[in-house]
Amino acid sequence: MKILVTGGAGFIGANFVFYMLDKHPEYDILCLDSLTYCGNIKTLEPVMDNPHFKFVKGDVTDRKLVFQLFEEEKFDVVVNFAAESHVDRSIEDPGVFLRTNILGTQTLMDASNEYGVARYHQVGTDEVYGDLPLDRPDLFFTEDMPLTASSPYSASKASADLLVMAYHRTYGLPVTISRCSNNYGPYQFPEKLIPLMIKNALADEKLPVYGTGENVRDWLYVKDHCKAIDMIIHDGKVGEVYNIGGHNEKSNLEVVRTILKQVGKSEDLITFVGDRKGHDLRYAIDPTKIHDELGWLPETRFDDGIRQTIDWYLDNRSWWEEIISGEYQEYYDRMYSNR
Ligand code: NAD
Ligand code: DAU
Repeated sequence: MKILVTGGAGFIGANFVFYMLDKHPEYDILCLDSLTYCGNIKTLEPVMDNPHFKFVKGDVTDRKLVFQLFEEEKFDVVVNFAAESHVDRSIEDPGVFLRTNILGTQTLMDASNEYGVARYHQVGTDEVYGDLPLDRPDLFFTEDMPLTASSPYSASKASADLLVMAYHRTYGLPVTISRCSNNYGPYQFPEKLIPLMIKNALADEKLPVYGTGENVRDWLYVKDHCKAIDMIIHDGKVGEVYNIGGHNEKSNLEVVRTILKQVGKSEDLITFVGDRKGHDLRYAIDPTKIHDELGWLPETRFDDGIRQTIDWYLDNRSWWEEIISGEYQEYYDRMYSNR
């Protein structure tokens, strides 16, 4: 089987490449990634010499390149991770989110239609369901909920999902969509909550918690997400959406306190800063469908996953210290000074 993995130099895409090469050593994986600020070729160093792996630097909206790649490589399956993924950046500058997340999806599906694939899988997000109230712990996101969006990021992901379903109905493209909750684990760019707080705590810098810190996210260890996508591309039903999440809801304050405790730093580092515009209150996935239909269950408890993640950031300082020395510092100052 030959799989095109787009966005494979990013956080989840790279973890997926590692997972698949390990689980299915006979599969061929081609990673297409334009290496934006968030993509890191160094992450893929451990697999660069694997004869079953190939890396191509390129943009998913580059029609000529994408069509040429499909013609040459004859992919069986496409898994589209490529995206602009950070909500705060989408609030600052939505344009590139619409281009990559919507038009990139269209380009990949047009090529999939033209050259024929057995499966086009769209990596979606639970943010397309909007948010849930904090005082209704009985409510969860299910696959049949209407799509709504709070940020330009989630609106772009919802648009892409609608387009994927439209390509299935109109052209018969064999699609699946997964909508996962918040991931954490190795190789996550330190603009997202968990790696940012680990990095700041290790440097004894302030930990900027938005608003009251009561917002809730449903955390899933990245390897469990990769396993779910592997199951969906093999056994998921064409035309279906699968929610992925492990019933692991935590407030942002709980997450930050856990990190501080584990690295042995004081809670005095916590600093409440201005809230995110349109900040979603609570995400919580109902994973009944993927469990009942495909037998998927998460394997990593949050206590273990967060310990492994902190250990990874401690053991791989050069990976993130290189990142925070460049454009990142400008971003950080822009986003957090005077907040
Ligand atoms: P990321 O930002 O870490 O990685 C995105 C990757 O896509 C990078 O390698 C980047 O270089 C690449 N990319 C961006 N624009 C591109 C373009 N135009 N052409 C080719 N490559 C491009 O993101 P992530 O956190 O790994 O998320 C991956 C996917 O999973 C996204 O689609 C995201 O919406 C979805 N998702 C993420 C989470 C999460 O918690 N991180 C949860 C659910 C779903
Ligand atoms: O739910 C899935 C989504 O999870 C993915 O689709 C997105 O790609 C991914 O970025 C993530 O979105 P969030 O906005 O939930 O993640 P983020 O890490 O940016 O923020 C998590 C929570 O922490 C959110 O409530 C905002 C808060 N936060 C974040 C940062 C970066 C802070 O309080 N302080 C911070 O500095």
